[in-house]
Amino acid sequence: MEPKKRIFSGIQPTGTLTLGNYIGALRNFKLLEDEYDCVYSIVDMHALTVRQNPTALRKACLTVMSLYLAVGLDPDKSLIYFQSHVPQHAELSWVLSCYTYMGELNRMTQFKDKSARNADNINAGLYTYPVLMAADILLYKADLVPIGADQKQHLELSRDVAERFNKVYGDVFVVPDAYIPKVGGRVMSLQEPTRKMSKSDPEDTYIAMLDEPSAIRKKLRRAVTDSENAIRFAPENKPGVSNLMSILSTLRGITLDEVASLYDGKGYGVFKDAVADAVIETLAPIQERFRRFNSDKAYLEEVMTHSARRAEAIAAKTMAKVRRKVGLAATRL
Ligand code: AMP
Ligand code: TRP
Repeated sequence: MEPKKRIFSGIQPTGTLTLGNYIGALRNFKLLEDEYDCVYSIVDMHALTVRQNPTALRKACLTVMSLYLAVGLDPDKSLIYFQSHVPQHAELSWVLSCYTYMGELNRMTQFKDKSARNADNINAGLYTYPVLMAADILLYKADLVPIGADQKQHLELSRDVAERFNKVYGDVFVVPDAYIPKVGGRVMSLQEPTRKMSKSDPEDTYIAMLDEPSAIRKKLRRAVTDSENAIRFAPENKPGVSNLMSILSTLRGITLDEVASLYDGKGYGVFKDAVADAVIETLAPIQERFRRFNSDKAYLEEVMTHSARRAEAIAAKTMAKVRRKVGLAATRL
């Protein structure tokens, strides 16, 4: 039997996760779990690129881990661990930074956006963030990386760095492919539907995975639409309605055409309530499992240590090869 192909992905433990994180990434982590050998990280070192309150960060790490488990990821099948527990991420990141051009990093739109938003803290980590992400992926020789559309540029950089390295040293890394959902790869803000839904924007623009049903319904009822009163997928002209259609389509497993034929002519109120029902029905069981996992610190610790050990075994192998290839002396330490 062919060995399974490998997946790597990660989410930053900052604040709470949104419906965008769920539809763009987490949901697919679960859907792909049986078909692939999966490594899912809580990328805590990436979170340090913006100032964090240490206590809040530690808590957010456990929250994200509990959400991984709550969406149904099975720690007997998938590795679920903190990036900072496997030191090879930082180690490979340094090596890869010597194979990444400043010109490439200068082009990263996320860096440009984040430095505009954090003008008082444009640190080197924010700049080399995509190199650490490349190290995450390449360490595990991942074939596939489930991500939202906003991470596509970073993934392409990972591919370029892998190819560049392989050209010099032979086939060390696997060149990874992105897995971006066709519908829902970019869930938009409820208030400004031409912007990505983001947890760094005001509360009423996003749905948090842990929002109460009443808050979810309220936010969706207030979501910006248009005055045409037609349910038709047209992201350019009708970004608000199209965004809600995408959400409903993914969560209910129906096509955009089916959404249109089910709801067109019924009015936006009915449509928004249908979206709210779908979101609430999806998130309620996740929230319930979340509460159970999040209050069981011993279990979380067991999963994270067990997974980190197994992750480190894979990472150490890749790192030993990288050391040998680039000419760093072998170590028995
Ligand atoms: P982050 O919260 O930035 O660490 O993102 C974690 C994952 O969620 C990445 O794969 C992102 O691409 C994805 N993601 C974040 N926001 C959205 C969104 N609004 N729509 C779709 N995917 C998203
Ligand atoms: N940069 C990603 C984000 O903000 C998170 C991330 C870090 C990641 N390392 C990764 C995603 C490796 C996929 C693979 O969304």
